[in-house]
Amino acid sequence: MKRRILNIACIGAGYVGGPTMAVIADRCPDISVTVIDLNEARIAAWNSGSLPVYEPGLDDVVRRTRGRNLRFIPQRDGAAAVAAADAVFISVTAPTKTQGSGAGKASDLSYVEACARYIAEHATGHTIVIEKSTMPVRAADTIKRILATSPHGGIFDVLSNPEFLAEGTAIRDLEKPDRVLIGGEAPEAVEALAEVYAHWVPDQAILRTGLWSAELSKLAANAFLAQRVSSINAISALCEVTGAQVDEVAKVLGSDSRIGPKFLKASVGFGGSCFKKDLLSLVYLCEFYGLTEPAAYWQSVQDLNEWQKRRFAQMAAAHAKKNGGVVAVLGLAFKKNTNDFRESPAIDICNHLLAEGVSLRLQDERVDPKAFCEVLVDETEAGFSFFRDVEEAVRDAGSILVLTEWDLYANLDWSKLSCLTASSAMVFDGRMIIDHTGAREAGVSTFVVGSGNA
Ligand code: NAD
Ligand code: UGA
Repeated sequence: MKRRILNIACIGAGYVGGPTMAVIADRCPDISVTVIDLNEARIAAWNSGSLPVYEPGLDDVVRRTRGRNLRFIPQRDGAAAVAAADAVFISVTAPTKTQGSGAGKASDLSYVEACARYIAEHATGHTIVIEKSTMPVRAADTIKRILATSPHGGIFDVLSNPEFLAEGTAIRDLEKPDRVLIGGEAPEAVEALAEVYAHWVPDQAILRTGLWSAELSKLAANAFLAQRVSSINAISALCEVTGAQVDEVAKVLGSDSRIGPKFLKASVGFGGSCFKKDLLSLVYLCEFYGLTEPAAYWQSVQDLNEWQKRRFAQMAAAHAKKNGGVVAVLGLAFKKNTNDFRESPAIDICNHLLAEGVSLRLQDERVDPKAFCEVLVDETEAGFSFFRDVEEAVRDAGSILVLTEWDLYANLDWSKLSCLTASSAMVFDGRMIIDHTGAREAGVSTFVVGSGNA
């Protein structure tokens, strides 16, 4: 029987649920979309003029759709929306488990399971349940088992429709995706969801696979991307000691059409809520199935990332301790154009410096200082403060760390800044973004990740 989706509910109003549902509502005026979350402050923010997620273009999409065919409601009011839905997306986190079997690697499915229970309790008739969250392969089995307990005899199809958007470019990625992936067992359900995306995505970009392939493809895609970053970061260290330039090497590599130019930017290490979590999930899956060597391979991608952050932090701390012990940190977000700092390299690097007794002057265009405070550990009481302006942050600093590639940092006027910093100031550019010629001409020495001139 042909199915049509006219009513969508989405559980989880985070970095994925909010923007994804806003774009679906925008591109599908014939579909009603309700986003539900347990976090009432987050829902209130989605209903306000100050959205909880910063993404270029998101404000406009929400302005066009909210109150038309898009609404954000707290979970306690969500039962009717789930009952009326033809399709319910699950877009909550599945973080790394912190306790129990698989702790430190396996995914914690408790939030996803809570959503499945909520759907089982409230759904009526036939409902397509869609995994939007990134899940370990075969997670759909768990969801199906829970849905089978539905007290109202609900009938369900479970699909895997992982999201590939990257933060900072989420709206562009959603509006013009490289591909949309739909994995499922029931062709009618797969086609019903494909029809939603067909409002704006060409059919050849809508890939249909089995459930397990879809679940695994998402983990594998993130692991491949992370592996490229770790590969170029491994080369960056070799460049620094041999006199080679990692951006030149990356250009040569990227112009090989078999390799391609993307994700070859050396950095202070990758961050974000997903690469580490998804790599560890893949490692756990390999170990679970007795695949020791593949597990070690994917673990090494994560280990190299930890090493890259650590060596940068150690270099900066050594310099800071000899040069006044005051460090300016420019950039706290895990990449530019987002307010998200989950797993940001800045967290580990700041905590390393604080543990070494170095005091910090922090600056970021978008990150909420109050929230960032909560991830800092200042046992030595070295102290840290936040500044709105770069000029204020660098005042009297002997070391300046650039940890996020915000455009602002590319255009800094070092002749002006050098009058504010300590006299022996040095910049540690973890993003290859600053004008290092300008900095050196202004008397500020530089370390640029992957640069053999360091
Ligand atoms: P998030 O933490 O920003 O949002 C998750 C939301 O779910 C939170 O607002 C939380 O309050 C809510 N929630 C948790 N349990 C709930 C429950 N039982 N009922 C109702 N609400 C509940 O997470 P995110 O970054 O949007 O990621 C969600 C999923 O998407 C993850 O699996 C992630 O791996 C995947 N993903 C994320 C990105 C990204 O760029 N952030 C990209 C692709 C895929
Ligand atoms: C990543 C993937 O790119 C998305 O496809 C995926 O949907 C998402 O994870 C997810 O599942 O959460 P995201 O983490 O938002 O997206 O951002 P990326 O652009 O992938 O950057 C991740 C980290 O790698 C950032 O810290 C970034 O600065 C770093 N990076 C990226 C580099 O250091 N060098 C590069 O060349 C590229």
